[in-house]
Amino acid sequence: MIPFIKAEYLVHEYSRRDEEGNVTGINRALDGISIEVKAGDFIAVLGANGSGKSTFAKHLNALLVPTEGTLYVDGKDTSDHNNDLAVRQSAGMVFQNPDNQIIANIVEEDAGFGPENIGIPTDEIWHRVEESLKNVGMYEYRKASPNHLSGGQKQRVAIAGILAMKPKCIILDEPTAMLDPAGRISVIRAVQELNKKENITVILITHYMEEVTAADYVYVMADGQIKMQGSPRQIFAKSEELAKYKLTIPEVTKIALELIKKGINIPKDILYVEELTDILLKLKVSATVGVRKE
Ligand SMILES: Nc1ncnc2c1ncn2[C@@H]1O[C@H](COP(=O)(O)OP(=O)(O)O)[C@@H](O)[C@H]1O
Ligand SMILES: [Mg+2]
Repeated sequence: MIPFIKAEYLVHEYSRRDEEGNVTGINRALDGISIEVKAGDFIAVLGANGSGKSTFAKHLNALLVPTEGTLYVDGKDTSDHNNDLAVRQSAGMVFQNPDNQIIANIVEEDAGFGPENIGIPTDEIWHRVEESLKNVGMYEYRKASPNHLSGGQKQRVAIAGILAMKPKCIILDEPTAMLDPAGRISVIRAVQELNKKENITVILITHYMEEVTAADYVYVMADGQIKMQGSPRQIFAKSEELAKYKLTIPEVTKIALELIKKGINIPKDILYVEELTDILLKLKVSATVGVRKE
């Protein structure tokens, strides 16, 4: 099967320039990225500031072209500018700041802007906008002004706008960085549902550990390279290695590791609060049963 995304030794170099525009140096922001993503996967890309995440995202959207190596998105070579529109239609991008993505004064018009721009007939646009707003839980706000929405709601409208263009994949570059905890949860849930129900491929770029648990597979970036990869559990079981890349593990995983240090026998790859409480309750029950037997 052809992967939806295939990067082969992808390199990106930015040129540093002085005021006159002369190149004074080279900044290698991506340094040989090779990955394959299957259609329908939910991938998280994790990395500290400056690790190259946004540069990679821009390549996935054909906003940048490879300095070296190749990148195929939905079978299309992103180094060929003739493919730009097709690539952007296959893989829509949601950015960090929701305010920069709002175009219209009414939610439903905002969500319809993308499809209108690519020449979709008006009837079809309304149909798509309705479906997309429902998909992200924002349909009841369709007549509202985006300015009156919370950050999480604005981001979900931005996602609806991308969805209305019927992409196969959504790339989200730190979509929750400017949101409060409730907004972050609402956005991640909406993205998770789109992946599960609509089978949309998701590339979620983040530095929040808690968000990564939603993914099928995680890539950890540092210095423009992929340093670690695996399931969220495999990644979070390696807290020392993550620390090398200035990343920490979720709070609940930290608590589990502390309990292990204190001699409590539980797994070290716990990701969810309910998981930890269940395991602890079972330990307590078996301890109680043990006491009764004596
Ligand atoms: N337009 C640019 N020109 C020059 N260097 C850049 C530019 N954008 C990013 N960089 C550099 O590339 C590296 C990766 O940046 P970026 O992809 O934004 O990382 P991240 O999104 O993980 O924070 C950083 O060292 C950054 O300073
Ligand atoms: Mg970034």
